[in-house]
Amino acid sequence: MMHCYLMSSRRSFIRKAIGFTAISVGASILTDAHPIDAFIPAPIPKQKVLLTINGKQMELMVDIRSTVLDLLREQLGMTGTKKGCAMGDCGACMIHVNGNRTNACLTLAVYNDGNKITTIEGLSKADALHPMQAAFLKHDSFQCGYCTSGQIMSAVACLKEGKATNRDAIKEYMKRNICRCGSYQNIVDAIEEVKKSGAAI
Ligand code: FES
Ligand code: FES
Repeated sequence: MMHCYLMSSRRSFIRKAIGFTAISVGASILTDAHPIDAFIPAPIPKQKVLLTINGKQMELMVDIRSTVLDLLREQLGMTGTKKGCAMGDCGACMIHVNGNRTNACLTLAVYNDGNKITTIEGLSKADALHPMQAAFLKHDSFQCGYCTSGQIMSAVACLKEGKATNRDAIKEYMKRNICRCGSYQNIVDAIEEVKKSGAAI
């Protein structure tokens, strides 16, 4: 008899506990319900930047999250600079910022306010190819061409920085640029030729 009484009171306790929990959870859902506004994304802030791109001054409103690479390709339609890894590993996005080679995928546009940017589109003068572009053509320094604009921007920087002292030094400098087609020897040939020619770069 005592056993039955204990069983019944335990069942009743469990029922009450479950009921209480359900009411608490329900009440919490009702009282903690997020207002619908919480699910609407806030507008992305934009910021004004002044850039000189290939000699042309531009005042631009940019998404504060935008890299220079995305600014060039998506906002300005300058697709000569390529996006490969988007994390600083392949060199496809190489540009010059204030004369220094820079991975465009690693630098935010808003950090470059006032900077001078040169892209592959800014190397040639009118119809004349830059000597490095001409040398790449002459030496077949590309196959699919996806890495080529980044390779050329690095190659020009290599000469400007005086790093093309010999083939090994060129290879060392150019190792930030990956070519999946394996055009490495021809790229070094092109750089060596421009160096020997003494052409103004
Ligand atoms: S896209 Fe910038 S390093 Fe690969
Ligand atoms: S030419 Fe194809 S990745 Fe370099």
